[in-house]
Order: sequence, then C-alpha cells, then structure tokens
Amino acid sequence: MSVEDNKTMKRIAIFASGNGSNAENIVHYFSNNKHIEVALIITNNPSAYVLERAKKLGIKSLIFDKSAFSENDKILQKLKENDINWIILAGFLLKIPKNIIKSFSNKIINIHPSLLPKYGGKGMYGDRVHQAVIDAKEQESGITIHYVNDHYDEGKIIFQAKCIVDTNDSPEDLATKIHELEYKYFPKVIEESIS
Ligand code: GAR
Repeated sequence: MSVEDNKTMKRIAIFASGNGSNAENIVHYFSNNKHIEVALIITNNPSAYVLERAKKLGIKSLIFDKSAFSENDKILQKLKENDINWIILAGFLLKIPKNIIKSFSNKIINIHPSLLPKYGGKGMYGDRVHQAVIDAKEQESGITIHYVNDHYDEGKIIFQAKCIVDTNDSPEDLATKIHELEYKYFPKVIEESIS
C-alpha cells in the first residue's frame, strides 16, 4: 500500500460486550475496503464470544474492566495509539465516558434494536428490548443507528428500518428479525457515514 493510500484509510474500533455477530459482519463487510478497516475490537467482558471471533478474524482485541470506562484515560490512550478514527458500538452495554465522546465528537455510532425513541435508555438492551416490545403488543419494531452523545440512546438518528412483530413472536423470534436488519444495513450505514 502506498503512503497516499494509507493517509485516506479510516480505522474503526468496534466496542462489543457479548456475542459479537454484528462485529463479525462488519469485519467481513470491510475486509477488502481500501479506505475503511476494522483495526480493533474492544470489550468490557473477558468471557464475551466476540473475543473468539476477533481471534479467528485476526483482529486485535483489548479487554477493559468497567472501572476503565469511567472517565480514566486508559482507553482513550489505546484508541490514539492504534490511530483509531471512528468508534462503532455493536452490542456494547456500558456508557461511553465523556472524555471519549469529546475526543470522538460525531465519530461514534451505535446500533439499537428498537425504533428509538421507543424502548431505549439505560438497561434496555438485547432481549430486554424485544420482551418490552412484545409486552406492549407493538405491531412493528426495528433498528436505529445513531450518533452517540452523553445520554443513552439519544444521539442524532442516522437511519431506521422496520420489521413486523407477529402476535406469537417470542423475544428470540424478534431478535432474529432484528439481527437480519442489522446485518443488512449497519455496515452500509457505517460506510456512508464515514465516507
Ligand atoms: C444487537 O441486536 C444490538 O442491536 C443490541 O445488542 C445486540 C448485539 O448482538 N444492542 C443493544 O441492545 C444496545 N443497547 P451481537 O452481539 O450478536 O452483535
């Protein structure tokens, strides 16, 4: 790769707390991209399956405990050391500290498995969201991709897509529909936002 090519390369860090199927999908999507690369996977959970995925995919990974996410500069330093330009939250359950939000202003994107502003906020993640949607007898749900600010799930919305909630859907059924939307749209929305 020439120096010129390298200058235009945007380096992503993906933050994920659990399974990491979105993280893997994003890595595959950008694997041959000349301008965007997934350089780092960061987790707060030492037993997260995303670490296995990172290993198989050959992506560098880092684990930080919860305390490192509360305002100290350790993570920020690592992001800088690794020349990270963008942060993607893909199933990441902790709040992003202010120092990172400040340094990556409008460069942090999250995916949430509901049609925000509905069913967002602290403690709303994964199957908890789907259960709440089913309990409320909603006829549709979907995904929201948005910029991250100081408040859980309240940053500017970039993209939403909907799916039908059938009356007999279990949280797992709904999770499957939501994941399909996520795999289809999240990498493309990241690409368009970064370019
Ligand atoms: C995804 O559905 C994502 O939208 C959700 O967690 C799941 C992670 O799946 N994120 C949140 O609930 C954030 N509040 P994955 O680990 O298989 O990518």
